[in-house]
Amino acid sequence: MKIGVLTSGGDAPGMNAAIRAVVRTAISYGIEAYGIYDGYKGLIENKIKKLERNDVGQILNRGGTILGSSRLKEFVEKDVRQKAIDNLQALEIDALVTIGGDGTYRGALALSEMGMPCIALPGTIDNDISSTEYTIGFFTALDTAIDAIDKLRDTSFSHQRCTVVEVMGRNCGDLAIYSGIACGAEIVITNDTGFNKEDVFRQVHHAKEIGKRHLVIVVAENITDVTELAREIQEHSEYESRASVLGYIQRGGTPSSYDRVLASKMGAYAVEVIRQGFGGRAICAHSLEVSHCDLREALTMEIKPSDLYQYLARLN
Ligand code: F6P
Repeated sequence: MKIGVLTSGGDAPGMNAAIRAVVRTAISYGIEAYGIYDGYKGLIENKIKKLERNDVGQILNRGGTILGSSRLKEFVEKDVRQKAIDNLQALEIDALVTIGGDGTYRGALALSEMGMPCIALPGTIDNDISSTEYTIGFFTALDTAIDAIDKLRDTSFSHQRCTVVEVMGRNCGDLAIYSGIACGAEIVITNDTGFNKEDVFRQVHHAKEIGKRHLVIVVAENITDVTELAREIQEHSEYESRASVLGYIQRGGTPSSYDRVLASKMGAYAVEVIRQGFGGRAICAHSLEVSHCDLREALTMEIKPSDLYQYLARLN
């Protein structure tokens, strides 16, 4: 059996850990693994190379993707996708693991419907894949945003300012709301909260009234021009105001512990799913759900062994 693996769309920390897990788990089963370089674009350009276990050594902790990534609008065209399938079939590749966001998922679905079984792994900092609670890269990007906002808070406090920070997420507000909570932001603006300027001015004014020396506002991207918003807040309030756009720094850096484990588990699991004969599947993970139970039961419950052991042996 032969499988291919590619990364596509915006890169995300942990993609390398996922690639490593796919390749090593495949090899451990005697399956040949092929790396496709530069996403779907590389697939139609036939940039495909067989990967050995050492080709994915020393990458678990590296940000970005060693396979490279791209966005290819033309992939919506059937004849472009047929070229991709021809290239995979010429190498007798039986299935493809695609790591990326919703665009990557759409490509994987279309290829699966044309007869090439694909398994999609959620790799994006945006956390905007509804089938999984968290995507690979989200928590690392969140840590980066938190680190930056903490630093902005220092200077915001010193100068008694209103600090407006824009974080990424495309149309999803998760990076904004999670970083806002983790950094104690006074206001978070996302598509879910809605954006009403007058309301923001009122809240900023209220912050002054209750004696806040400074405040932090986190805004999800694609909602408003944060430089302009900061200017208007300064005009309408008692605070001097400054804006910062965190930008692409959120996409880079060494993956967090959570992303390394999530990516390793999902990558290894994708190979199991292919071995079971599935195609056209999306890998999902659910965690951090909050519930409650009887306190006495909590003390007597057995510790559930982690299922990570079953994947470990195949990752080395
Ligand atoms: O999907 C990841 C992401 O970084 C989004 O947060 C952002 O909107 C977009 O990609 C930027 O895309 P590009 O790399 O094409 O500029």
